[in-house]
Amino acid sequence: MRTLIIGLLLSALAAGTALAVYPSKTINYAGCGAGPVAFSGRHHSQPCSRCHNQQTFPRMQQGEVSITMAAIDEGRLCGSCHNGRQAFASKDNCQRCHQSQ
Ligand code: HEC
Ligand code: HEC
Ligand code: HEC
Repeated sequence: MRTLIIGLLLSALAAGTALAVYPSKTINYAGCGAGPVAFSGRHHSQPCSRCHNQQTFPRMQQGEVSITMAAIDEGRLCGSCHNGRQAFASKDNCQRCHQSQ
């Protein structure tokens, strides 16, 4: 597993791909009608393994995990932090993630 992650990291660097959590890198989600969501490295400087683990986002590739609001509200995926303790809660803060169009 460790070799796989290092391999992915090296190939990402070799391909010149900006990593998800570089301050300059943003992953954009369409938002399924609720307004687009920009996941920005500027706000997310935690260790890679905090998010890239079996329970959360196992693959370092956008779209590998389909993110639902139900999962977030249950404290999984983005909700493992956005629960009102580590970071602002998903409930009552829709517009902090879903930008109006
Ligand atoms: C706060 C959570 C979080 C942290 C910390 C994090 N990532 Fe990610 N990363 C994500 C998410 C979410 C995705 C998109 C996954 C998906 O859509 O299935 C992603 C995707 C990626 C991608 C693919 C980007 C693309 O454009 O497809 C790479 C490469 C990546 N991460 C590398 C890293 C590296 C290297 C680290 C540590 C230096 C790291 N990530 C730390 C959440 C995180
Ligand atoms: C490892 C914990 C962690 C995970 C996982 C995580 N976040 Fe965050 N996020 C934070 C922290 C900490 C902040 C800084 C804001 C705060 O203190 O509440 C933040 C800030 C943000 C902001 C900035 C909002 C603003 O008003 O400035 C957005 C948008 C955001 N996160 C979206 C997401 C999305 C989308 C995901 C899932 C793909 C995600 N986050 C996963 C910890 C996390
Ligand atoms: C921490 C960031 C965050 C917050 C806060 C948040 N969302 Fe989301 N939401 C997302 C992400 C990421 C997706 C997946 C978008 C995609 O795949 O295009 C999503 C998807 C959705 C979807 C479509 C998928 C589904 O499961 O229904 C709806 C509807 C939605 N959000 C509504 C809301 C509402 C209403 C609130 C406030 C009560 C809210 N969201 C708060 C990040 C967030």
